[in-house]
Amino acid sequence: MTVLDQAGESAETPLLEVRHVKKYFPIRQGIFSREVARVHAVDDVSFAVREGETLGLVGESGCGKSTLGRTIVRLLEPTDGQVIFQGRQIGHLGARSMRPLRREMQMVFQDPYASLNPRKRVGTIVSDPMKIHKLGSAAERKRRVGEILETVGLSPEHYNRFPHDDLQNELHLTYLFIAHDLGVVRHVSDRIAVMYLGKIVELAPAEELYTRPIMPYSEALLSAVPIPDPDLAEKRERIVLEGDVPSPINPPSGCRFHPRCRYATDVCKQLEPPLVDYGNGHLAACHHPLNVDQATLQRVGVAEQHTPATADESALPQDSSGRSNPAVTPTSDTHSG
Ligand SMILES: Nc1ncnc2c1ncn2[C@@H]1O[C@H](COP(=O)(O)OP(=O)(O)OP(=O)(O)O)[C@@H](O)[C@H]1O
Ligand code: SF4
Ligand SMILES: [Mg+2]
Repeated sequence: MTVLDQAGESAETPLLEVRHVKKYFPIRQGIFSREVARVHAVDDVSFAVREGETLGLVGESGCGKSTLGRTIVRLLEPTDGQVIFQGRQIGHLGARSMRPLRREMQMVFQDPYASLNPRKRVGTIVSDPMKIHKLGSAAERKRRVGEILETVGLSPEHYNRFPHDDLQNELHLTYLFIAHDLGVVRHVSDRIAVMYLGKIVELAPAEELYTRPIMPYSEALLSAVPIPDPDLAEKRERIVLEGDVPSPINPPSGCRFHPRCRYATDVCKQLEPPLVDYGNGHLAACHHPLNVDQATLQRVGVAEQHTPATADESALPQDSSGRSNPAVTPTSDTHSG
């Protein structure tokens, strides 16, 4: 999916703001279509996208990515919360008021077989069909691609660029780029949001997320991304997530990830961890954050805010051999401040 913008005004106010957006789908039964349950597809999601920025949105199947995308472009009406586009609330606009905005904000459904592959260069994308059908020599195909690029208003120098660069720079586009795994969005995203069962669990500048995941679900997703360096690949631990994604009809209590998290403790089952800002635009929701030093923990006051009196303060991750062990667990001395 892509949210496209071709306007070009204020750089300060974000182009898009999503504030506490919820989208629940009622499940109805019986002849009176009584609502018996709700699918919590998107459950209190907030973030902003700057103009010209690409925000990658990743998470397993069913976590609510498409529902969030559809709600943002107003193919769906939010159950609650606000969608603000160019400073204007659009969450509940009618079809007629939405019409002029439809040109500036679009959903592009990614069919990996039919659409532009973000990891292939423009020249390759255009010449592949000729190659498959064995048309001409390599040099002839390259010349022909140059002609085609010129026909559509691009120059031969676009041959070695990625489609994403071309579109974004020349049309001044803003993207919300949705994918299942962190491998796909790595090279196109400025920032990445990780979604789990209807919630954003981590949001960070792209490179920071890849080098310093704070939330264990991100760590697990990351462990599945192939790395080209064989030495590094061998050293790295592959974290296999146990069990299926729980149902968004009755999400788990506390941290929704707790039934599958190898670091889970009692507090995780009892209290939902809020998104905490760790600085540098890095937000994460976890009671036992990974890759965070003691000073940062004290500063953000994770333990103070989110650890109840009954919490197991001495809780340590069940497996301390992982690549990104929690530097520290919350300690009682941060309680008072
Ligand atoms: N119209 C609907 N009515 C009821 N439930 C729905 C509806 N649309 C989506 N859902 C449910 O909402 C949850 C989120 O679905 P969504 O399609 O947003 O996930 P997704 O992250 O896009 O998944 P995928 O990666 O498979 O595309 C799922 O449990 C799905 O079954
Ligand atoms: S809050 Fe607990 S269960 Fe949730 S990700 Fe953090 S350690 Fe795991
Ligand atoms: Mg989807």
